[in-house]
Amino acid sequence: MYKRIGFVWFLLIVLLTAPAAAQDILPYQNPDLSPDERAADLLSRMSIDEKIGQMTLVEKNSIRPNDITEMYIGGLLSGGGGYPRPNTAEAWADMVDGFQQKALETPLGIPLIYGADGVHGHSNVEGAVIFPHNIGLGATRNPELVQQVCAATASEMMATGVYWNYAPVLAVPQDIRWGRTYEGYAENTNLVSELATACIRGLQGESLDVLATPKHFVGDGGTAWGSSTTNDYMIDQGVTDVDEAILRTVHLPPYQAAIDSGALSIMISFSSWGGMKMHAQEYLITDVLKGELGFNGFIVSDWGGIDQITPDYYQAVVASINAGVDMNMVPYQYTVFIGTMKSAISAGDISMERIDDAVLRILRVKFVMGLFEQPLAERSLLEGVGSDTHRELARQAVTESLVLLKNDNEALPIAKDTPHIFVGGAAADDIGVQSGGWTIEWQGGSGSITEGTTILEAIKATVADPDAQVKFDRFGRFEDETDESGNPLIADIGIVVIGEEPYAEGPGDSNELVVTEAQQSLIDRVRASSEKLVIILLSGRPLVITEDLELADAFVAAWLPGTEGLGVTDALFGDKPFTGKLSFTWPRSMDQIPFDFANLPSEGEDAPLFPFGYGLGS
Ligand code: GLC
Repeated sequence: MYKRIGFVWFLLIVLLTAPAAAQDILPYQNPDLSPDERAADLLSRMSIDEKIGQMTLVEKNSIRPNDITEMYIGGLLSGGGGYPRPNTAEAWADMVDGFQQKALETPLGIPLIYGADGVHGHSNVEGAVIFPHNIGLGATRNPELVQQVCAATASEMMATGVYWNYAPVLAVPQDIRWGRTYEGYAENTNLVSELATACIRGLQGESLDVLATPKHFVGDGGTAWGSSTTNDYMIDQGVTDVDEAILRTVHLPPYQAAIDSGALSIMISFSSWGGMKMHAQEYLITDVLKGELGFNGFIVSDWGGIDQITPDYYQAVVASINAGVDMNMVPYQYTVFIGTMKSAISAGDISMERIDDAVLRILRVKFVMGLFEQPLAERSLLEGVGSDTHRELARQAVTESLVLLKNDNEALPIAKDTPHIFVGGAAADDIGVQSGGWTIEWQGGSGSITEGTTILEAIKATVADPDAQVKFDRFGRFEDETDESGNPLIADIGIVVIGEEPYAEGPGDSNELVVTEAQQSLIDRVRASSEKLVIILLSGRPLVITEDLELADAFVAAWLPGTEGLGVTDALFGDKPFTGKLSFTWPRSMDQIPFDFANLPSEGEDAPLFPFGYGLGS
């Protein structure tokens, strides 16, 4: 009896207050309104501190969690290697959601946006699938595949609450001595546009699942060797020493394509053009990108990129924000940035109109992404992180990325019942070398840094015939191997895997793109103990291999394939064909670099070793 009366009272209260509750929702909280309407309403309710907070992007190890609430921080990121401990997808989701809860405790409850560099999979996360770096995807010439790769990456990122990906790179690398060459799809502008927009579609999906960030605007791939003033870098973050006509024909078109494909955040380059750091380039950022190209998303600086403009931090901040940067990837001293912004606004050096424009752009994107409705990690997707489905996709991408440069004496495909196979080279059994930079750590690292299948493991798994023997030696020493009569054994097939040690950005700048002495000795040793020799190169760019090409019966450029080594053996042993085509011209010698693409000879000693687009079938 009493229960019934209680329920009636409860029902009455709900019915009487329901309409009021509905009326309590403020316009910006109403998902039925447009992003523009919601952003305008929210902006009108914000203080200057709340506005500055939205323009502040902080590296996750540098933030005092309560400052997210108290200083209204709008964005956080994990730089390369910015993982929680343990470095698991679930721990990532817990970490990011923990920060997000702090943002939701602010008076207006504006969710923060959390970013990371998922440049070849959610590649900071142990156990995530590591896909081929862009140089390999460029060799696939397959935009549908690239879209699927980026969609799988987006899914693994959403599972951890990271809804912002600092990818794809839109660089059009013109000098392969650049340590970021492998982050580019190609030396060719149109191919970059085609594949980068495919990735944007894959990342963002139909409802802006993960915000893509075409980067680094503009001309990052066109800098001159020796022009960098950052650390001991030689070309990374240097001067894009081209006129506006070249800038507009070679480096700018991918950004128009990206905007047309729905890009809503763009990252500025560390490089310089026209005598000015890109982070201060009002003409290119505001007049060209936002004006002429019609970009209506928000501009984010690169990691401390604003600081490089001038030693006077106040002037650097004023110049960059006024040039059109909307969000500053600080990444460390956020209280200094916020204080500087307050001073600049009160001094009138940065107008409220510019602040409101920047904040409106940021808020609008957050509304379009649905962050206000779904700010937390999509944990139902956690089971997909590192899943077999994603590994199969990566395996296909690896196979399609391989470029067969030589195949004489029917060396390839290798029969699965070949009696004796020698495998030489530490790189044959090294997930870290296979994956390259931007993997778990910023610079990557050799060794078994995450779950995956090495090329050696793949060879052993493929040559399953009990009569077939696979012998491995990291130094290629097989002189102790003997045949039935005790004579030195000559393998039917020798496979040598050589690789660049992982690197990222400027530390990878190099004027010596050559096979090392140790690698040459390895090749010579396996050559001497094999009937036929197959060389597999793991690298972030073409290397000078002219002599070794002569020594090998077959030569495969495998780039930086990532965790799925079976993708290499699928082609090596004939289950799949070789279809990859070079997306970078291959030099005969270092003297040819940088290429004068407008005047490339097609034959003779002055011609490249292999032209853009080269690749044998099998
Ligand atoms: C780096 C890179 C940029 C990356 C950012 C965050 O310095 O230049 O590509 O997205 O910092 O890790």
